[in-house]
Order: sequence, then C-alpha cells, then structure tokens
Amino acid sequence: MTQTLTILGIESSCDDTAAAVVRGQDAHGEVLSSIVVGQEELHAAYGGVVPEIAARAHAEQLDIAVEKALEDAQMTLNDIDAIAVTAGPGLIGGVVSGMMCAKGLSAGSGRPLIGVNHLAGHALTPRMTDGIAFPYLMLLVSGGHCQFLAVLSETEFRRIGGTIDDAPGEAFDKTAKLLGLGYPGGPLVEQAAVNGDEKRFKFPRPLLDRPDCDLSFSGLKTALRRARDLLIADQGGITVQDRNDLCASFQLAVADTLAEKTRRAIIAFRDIADGNTLAVAGGVAANQVIADKLRETARDQDVGFVSPPLKYCTDNGAMIAWAGLERFANGDTDDMTLSARPRWPLDQSATPMLGSGKKGAKA
Ligand code: KG4
Ligand code: ZN
Repeated sequence: MTQTLTILGIESSCDDTAAAVVRGQDAHGEVLSSIVVGQEELHAAYGGVVPEIAARAHAEQLDIAVEKALEDAQMTLNDIDAIAVTAGPGLIGGVVSGMMCAKGLSAGSGRPLIGVNHLAGHALTPRMTDGIAFPYLMLLVSGGHCQFLAVLSETEFRRIGGTIDDAPGEAFDKTAKLLGLGYPGGPLVEQAAVNGDEKRFKFPRPLLDRPDCDLSFSGLKTALRRARDLLIADQGGITVQDRNDLCASFQLAVADTLAEKTRRAIIAFRDIADGNTLAVAGGVAANQVIADKLRETARDQDVGFVSPPLKYCTDNGAMIAWAGLERFANGDTDDMTLSARPRWPLDQSATPMLGSGKKGAKA
C-alpha cells in the first residue's frame, strides 16, 4: 500500500453508535475524527443491552454521528475515498441500521462501500495505532467477545481458542449486578476490588485442567453468586468489605485464567506463525490487574506487548474505518447487495461457538 486513503467508518453492532474518519498508508493510520455516542443510560436499568432499544437509538444517532465525524475532520463526503461499515457480527437491528446509513451515503456520493467484520476491526486496530506487522497474536476481551486469534494478514485469521460461554466483560457485568453495583460493571468491580482481599474467596480457574486455549466464565459467576448467598444466609446481608473482597477475588480469578490461557496461546501461536507480538484489545483490557498480568505473561514468554489506547480498544468507528482501509487498499469493495451477518466468525474453519451472549451472537 502506498497511496494515502481517507475512509469514513461506521459502527453500530452493539451499544455504541460510532463514526470516524481515518487517513492511512501502509501499517499506520491517523484518526482525523472519532465520534462515539454511548447508550449506557438507556440500558442501565436492565443490566445489559436490550437489542430493540439499541437498534432504535442507533437509527436516531447515526446521521448525527457521521455528520459530526466529517465536521471534526473538516471534510465532506467528497474528501472520502470509501465508506466502511460494520456488516456483522453483532445485534442484527443495530448492524442493519448502520448498513442502511452507509448504503445511503454510498449511493448518494458514489463512494465505494466496504463491509467490515467487527472482529477484524478490533483485531487490526494495533496496526493502526502501533504499526505492528503481521503476523501477531491477538487477545480480544470485551463484553461480547473473548478469543485468541493468530492475525496472519488483513483477511487471514486463525482462531486459537475462545470462551465456550460468557465473555469476561459479561461476567464482570453480571458480577456487578449480583452485588448491586451499576452498569457497565467492569470499572465498578475494579474500583471495589481496590479495597478488597483477593485471597479471601477461592473462586475456580475454569478450564485450566484442559490443555487447550478455550475459556469459560459462566461457572465463575455461579461461584460468586453462591459465595454471596452463603454470606447473606449467615449474616443476613453483605457488608461493603464483603463486596470488595468478592470483587477482588473474582477479578483475580479472571486475571489468572486469562494469563495462563494467554501463555498457552503464545506457545500455540509459535506453531502457526513466526511472530513475536501479543496485542490485547477490548473493554476488559482496561482492567489494570488483568492488563498487568497479561503484560507479565508476554514478558515471561519473550514476546512484545501492545494494547491500543482504550478509546480504540472499545467499540469505535476508527477501527472499522481502518479495517475498511486495509481491504480497500487491496482493491476489495462491496456493492449494494452487501448483507448483515449476525454471526460471522473471522476464522471460517474454526468450530462454531454455541449460544448467544447479552451482546449478540458469539462469533
Ligand atoms: O469492548 P467493549 O467496550 O464493548 C464490547 O463488548 O464490544 O467492552 C465492554 C465491556 C463491558 O462488559 C465492561 O464491563 C468491560 O468491557 N469493562 C471492564 C472494564 N472496563 C470495561 N471489565 C473489567 N475491568 C474494567 N476496568
Ligand atoms: Zn466490539
């Protein structure tokens, strides 16, 4: 890739309506603007994302987010080379809203349309932010995703392992709900854990008895509920200290499990490709205890560690623009027949994951 490209990216697959303009060349992108309109207050009362509410809010906010992104980049559609949009996986109503918006803009402006896999957006972000070269190992840890991917090129991904049930962010959110903290739960559990004793409750480290890189978080949530219920039965309720200790012990169990499975994924990755970087993205990567353990694991295994700035780790439009840019640079575009895919695994050869999480289908 030598030509400089300017791409508008649109993302609406979960609970953030996002649009961004990214300019890039080779493995380096400059984010000219990035607008993210969250929906947290709309879903807070339910302790998770309500798909129909999300879709309506996206439909209302998409035009505004795109307009603001172009304005912040001091551009009009005439300055854009192509329009990239999340075409899946995710909550179908939101994905369709974003695609209708992108198709309208593409038809009106004559600019090419590029359908982007949301997970490819997350997985390619470290190239935009840190310019890392292929191949590298990616750990995606968020409210909707949890998987290890060998990123071999902008179109080739090998799934090394992933959750067989909940994503870790979901487990944090459920923990927060069980303990009467707010939503999203991750930051609140982390905050409570600061004053907690991480050794007080012995929570399981799920699937460590299996040699693979798969993870499971639903049993951990059940263990936490049991510990809470025992305290309530014993004492008639839980104290703030109990709550902090539960949060700290839960967080350590997630961190230990992720660190050990990451160590195994690094070893498995070496059999697949000749790379030496671990990149971590997703909202859960914001957790300091988890991030520190993952950094330590990378150091012990002698691989570099990259974690893009949080605003590009959580759902955003820039990652979609960047993934679109990588495809467009290879002459790859879509047309108006592009359709939304609620399920769209990056590695088509991997065994499909069962079930559907609070934030949509597990890819
Ligand atoms: O990547 P993200 O913004 O959205 C997707 O799920 O795609 O991730 C949001 C998730 C939520 O479940 C939230 O509770 C979790 O990331 N999270 C955290 C922290 N900050 C956000 N989990 C643990 N510790 C945190 N500090
Ligand atoms: Zn995401």
